[in-house]
Amino acid sequence: MPPTASKAEKQRVRGRYEHLFSGDGGQSQPLLHQHGVEIQEFGKLRLLPIVLSFETRAQSCQLLNQILADTQILYSLYKKHHWLMRGLTFYQLHLLLDKHAEEQVALIDQLAERVQTLGGVAVGDPRHVAEITAIPRPPNGVEEVPAMLSRLLEAHEILITKVREAISTTDDNGDAGTNDLLSSGVLPTNEMQVWFIAEHLVDTPLIHG
Ligand SMILES: [Fe+2]
Repeated sequence: MPPTASKAEKQRVRGRYEHLFSGDGGQSQPLLHQHGVEIQEFGKLRLLPIVLSFETRAQSCQLLNQILADTQILYSLYKKHHWLMRGLTFYQLHLLLDKHAEEQVALIDQLAERVQTLGGVAVGDPRHVAEITAIPRPPNGVEEVPAMLSRLLEAHEILITKVREAISTTDDNGDAGTNDLLSSGVLPTNEMQVWFIAEHLVDTPLIHG
């Protein structure tokens, strides 16, 4: 039987707000502060008619959720370092890191919606993300600028390793949709961002050659 708000639940909500209004709220009183029923567990798959086997969809969802968790952490690292950046190139790096963060946000949405399309549940809550990610936690404070940039590169490297493995697996499994998202969206964006960050770690004279 589908879970719906029981009569007792309606009474509980009604009782909670008794002191705030008179009347019964008609037929359209919102049922506030409901205790939710989990209708699909994380890791369980719904069947959508996209003509891919259960095994293929399950494997793709598992790979995508790992990449999604790492991408959410990479996004957060970019914002953290966007805020904490300092030094002579502060403004340039401040803007660049924010641009990369925005590009990662776009990928986060596409990855999550691919998981949903495959019938899975996308990892969303940051505390759940933290349990899944393979990217090490940075110190809460501020590191030296080259260390912050190196940390971003290492996060990309961890992520790109997973993306390449997933591209290979989804190719073998015939999951063309996931393969396309990873190989023409996630991978090139990360590779390009690596290039832009790595160039800031070249020890080259600014004025005198
Ligand atoms: Fe900002």
